[in-house]
Formats: sequence, C-alpha cells, structure tokens
Amino acid sequence: MLKIGPLEFNTRVFLAPLCGITDSAFRRLCRREGATVTYSEMTVSDGIIRNNLNTSRLMRFTEQERPYGIQLCGSDPEVMARATRMVTDLGPDLIDINLGCPVRKVTDRKAGSALLAEPDRMAGIVSAVVQATHLPVTVKMRIGWDDKTKAPGDTARRLEDCGVKSIALHARTRAQGFAGRADWDVIGEVKQAVSIPVIGNGDVIQPEESRRMLDQTGCDAVMIGRGSMGNPWIFSRTLAYLETGEVPAPPDVFTRIETALLHLEYMVEDKGSEVAAREIRKHLPGYLKGERDAHRVRNEIHQTKNAEEMRDVLLRYADELRAAPPSMERPGEPATT
Ligand SMILES: Cc1cc2nc3c(=O)[nH]c(=O)nc-3n(C[C@H](O)[C@H](O)[C@H](O)COP(=O)(O)O)c2cc1C
Repeated sequence: MLKIGPLEFNTRVFLAPLCGITDSAFRRLCRREGATVTYSEMTVSDGIIRNNLNTSRLMRFTEQERPYGIQLCGSDPEVMARATRMVTDLGPDLIDINLGCPVRKVTDRKAGSALLAEPDRMAGIVSAVVQATHLPVTVKMRIGWDDKTKAPGDTARRLEDCGVKSIALHARTRAQGFAGRADWDVIGEVKQAVSIPVIGNGDVIQPEESRRMLDQTGCDAVMIGRGSMGNPWIFSRTLAYLETGEVPAPPDVFTRIETALLHLEYMVEDKGSEVAAREIRKHLPGYLKGERDAHRVRNEIHQTKNAEEMRDVLLRYADELRAAPPSMERPGEPATT
C-alpha cells in the first residue's frame, strides 16, 4: 500500500502535470482508466492571490478527478503561503510544489527548477506551504539545475525535513530540458536518501517501461506524462501489466475515436467550442496513431474552426473505417502515416 501522508493508494501509476494538456477533461479520462493521482497544470501563486481568472480555471476540478492535487509554482514564501490557504479551501486531496519547470519566464523569477540551485530559498518556500495547510504537501522536481551543481539526494533529504510527504522526480537536470534520456539511476539514489515515497518520472511510454523503472530504481510509483497524450489507456494497460505480466491489446480505433469525442465534449463544457477544438489537437496524434489515413484526417481537423466541425470530421472518418476494415496496428507503436 502506497501512503502519501494520510492518503492511501492501491495502485501506483500517476498522471504527470502537463501545462496545456492535463486539464479537467483529460484528467477525468485518465482517472477512468485508473490513474492513481491527477494534478492540475502548474498554477502560479501570484495569479492565485490576485484571483486571476485563468489561474482559477486551471485549478477547477470535478469529483471524478480525485485523488487530485493542485500544483503551485512561486518564489515568495509569503505569497506561496497565502496561495496555499486559498487552494486548500478548494478542497483538493493534496498540494504539490513545482520544483522542475525549466521555462525561462519561470526560472528568471526564481521559481520552478531555479529553486533547486537555491536550497535555502527552496526550503523556506516549502516550509511555508507545509505550515499553511492541513493537506499533504508533495513536490515534483528535476534532479538538479545542471550537472555541476546537482545534489538530488541532499535536496530530497532537505525536502523531507521540511515536511514534504512524497517526491516525484523527473530524472533530468534543468540544463537537459527534454533532451537525452532520463537518468533513472538517480531515481534509485533519491529513493535511498529518503524514507518518504519517491515517484519516478521520465520517458515511461509503454506499460513495460513502468515495470522496468520500478524494478531498476526501487521507486514507489511511476508518473507518466507525454506517454498519456491521446492515450489515457496507458494507465489501464500499465496497471493490468503490473498485475498480470501481460500487456492488454490497445483499444480499437472506434473506441479511440469515441473517447476523442467524449474528450472534446468535456472540453466544450469547460472551455467552449472554439478553445476546445484548438486545445484537443495536441491529443489527436495519440488518438489516431497508426491508423489508415490518420495524416489526412489530422489535416482535415486542422482546418476546422470549432468542436462541431471537428466532431463531423471524426464521425465521417469512423464511418469510412467501418466501411473498410481498419488496420491492426497498435497505438503506442511508431505511426506509419
Ligand atoms: C507540454 C509539457 C508541459 C508540462 N507541464 C508541466 C507542469 O505544469 N508541471 C510540472 O511539474 N511538469 C510539467 N511538465 C513535465 C512533465 O510533468 C514530466 O515531468 C516530463 O514530461 C517527463 O515525463 P514524461 O517523459 O513521462 O513526459 C510538462 C512537460 C511537458 C512536455
């Protein structure tokens, strides 16, 4: 049984927070497929305390997304504490602190991964958040700012001393961005350094890779980000694999199109037709991966201006496939179109 503060989990495959991707609509689909925990996209503490409308939208959630964490990003302990009190009132299951964001706009303000290079400031912020809420506080971090300064074991111990209840570790430095391979060995080192749960993250795309990460590092759970895009079944398939050793077949194209349509419907409810049609595009390569004419359909979809037009394209495509049997290629394998 995995425990994060008072929370207990029977499974151990988390959905990573992804800005612009893991909104309420997508979190619902991932929870339906068994994701252990979902998180908001990163929310900036200054926006929260100013009641910024866009920030409030990012934090909204439905009961289906629980267990659900709201992720905070900031550099001022006082502002972070105020934001934490406001977020606590929204009733998430946990509060997560972003110590990994590599984006200049964030790091220039000494937030996100920049805090890894300033352990005292980091500890001040994390302690302020822990003291401002009764909820479990977790962090998501990279292994360091760069190769020269990284000290992930020390950072993790310091965070544990501040009262953090788990650490999700994206096994790259800030300097690496998303290049190269995530260094899973460091996940093992951090696991050895602390007694709170460590959630490994970085480059888990296929169900088998979750098993490999758990075995290789001894981490308590895995977290999947990019591998979930247009592919919420990564959770159910990974959970089945961890339990039985067999990877279930991915869903057929009709289930995938049906899910894309449901995803679109949820997004329309939350954001309106035009925004939904724009934002779901990042998921479409995943939903249509490996299917006949997927490239053409994606192009047609790119011409659409709203969810209704997009829906028509997807329904027409499903009709075409029904008229002629679809390919047997599996999503998650390289696209052939
Ligand atoms: C488009 C995108 C947006 C991201 N947004 C966030 C974020 O808001 N908060 C965060 O902690 N990490 C964010 N990340 C990092 C991911 O959560 C994750 O650590 C990283 O993608 C590595 O995991 P993966 O290989 O499973 O994708 C983002 C990554 C991507 C690609």
